[in-house]
Amino acid sequence: RPRLFSGMQPTQDSLHIGNYLGALVNWVQMQESFNAIYSVVDLHALTVDVDPDVLRQRTRATAAQYLAAGVDPAKSAVFVQSHVPEHAELTWILSCLTGFGEASRMTQFKDKSAKRGSEGTNVGLFTYPILMAADILLYDAAKVPVGEDQRQHLELSRNLAQRFNGRYGETFVVPEPHILEATAKIQDLQNPTAKMSKTSPTGTIDLLADPKVTAKRVRSAVTDTGREIRFDEAEKPGVSNLLSIYSALDGRSIEQLESDYDGKGYGDLKKDLAEVVVGVVGPIRERATELLSDPAELDRILAEGAERVRPIAAATLARVYDRVGLLARR
Ligand code: TYM
Repeated sequence: RPRLFSGMQPTQDSLHIGNYLGALVNWVQMQESFNAIYSVVDLHALTVDVDPDVLRQRTRATAAQYLAAGVDPAKSAVFVQSHVPEHAELTWILSCLTGFGEASRMTQFKDKSAKRGSEGTNVGLFTYPILMAADILLYDAAKVPVGEDQRQHLELSRNLAQRFNGRYGETFVVPEPHILEATAKIQDLQNPTAKMSKTSPTGTIDLLADPKVTAKRVRSAVTDTGREIRFDEAEKPGVSNLLSIYSALDGRSIEQLESDYDGKGYGDLKKDLAEVVVGVVGPIRERATELLSDPAELDRILAEGAERVRPIAAATLARVYDRVGLLARR
């Protein structure tokens, strides 16, 4: 079975429906045919200022949502990134192969550092995509299921793998992104020309939110002028986003939904979608809450996951250290 790796940052308690549809749904499907490894990437989450206890809580909450959404620890390894120190170690080696200009061109870095200013931007934010490359390359992952916003980071991972292989001989598998177009970019409900993101206050649908709040958010989503329910991202970004979410959750195609809502209003669409969303997200929230009520059991699952993957990471790192000429430890 080919190997697969993916991860999410524990930067909030709750994941949102963009994380769910863009990535998590694929994770659950792909664990059937791949040797899947899913990480809560806590080291990545340190690039923003966070209270230590809050980070611990979010790390468990993120893991609980993986499981609640259907990631099965009997099939997939689920672990916390910092439990496998090889991630940080490989990052150093790869950072010595990354051009300063190359890293400077990462659009997520450019956007975030522009917002924070140079004093507010830490170097971790700059090297973040290199840590991500290390995550993937450590496990010889052939596929990486992510949303559209990670495409450029994946390209960097591929370039680093190829560069290392070219210089030191075949060492890494060159990973391929797995991005499903229909759900790769879920937009913010209040601002449908921008990506739904964990930092937008009211434009998200959160997996752990109270169903009443969720329903209200869907019903108050920004729609467009006009009244026709039609998929047209340029002219009707709000309605198109709702149709994408609807279709992904309910299984009906966009064309089918357009015809089913022919002659109906935005209000009807949003009311029905609110029910569909609550029907999917509600049970995930319940299972996650249940899992979080037993942190010891959750920690046990995470420890087991780390134990399973650590030998793979250690073997890769040993191979890399040898290739680059670090003197073997005896
Ligand atoms: P993160 O934590 O920001 O997001 C987790 C996953 O959710 C996807 N995603 C979306 N998909 C569709 N629509 C959206 N609005 C949306 N918002 C987020 C992301 O593409 C991602 O798949 N750098 C990564 C975490 C990471 C990683 C890795 C991923 C670290 N190491 C190794 C894969 C492999 C990130 O910040 O994801």
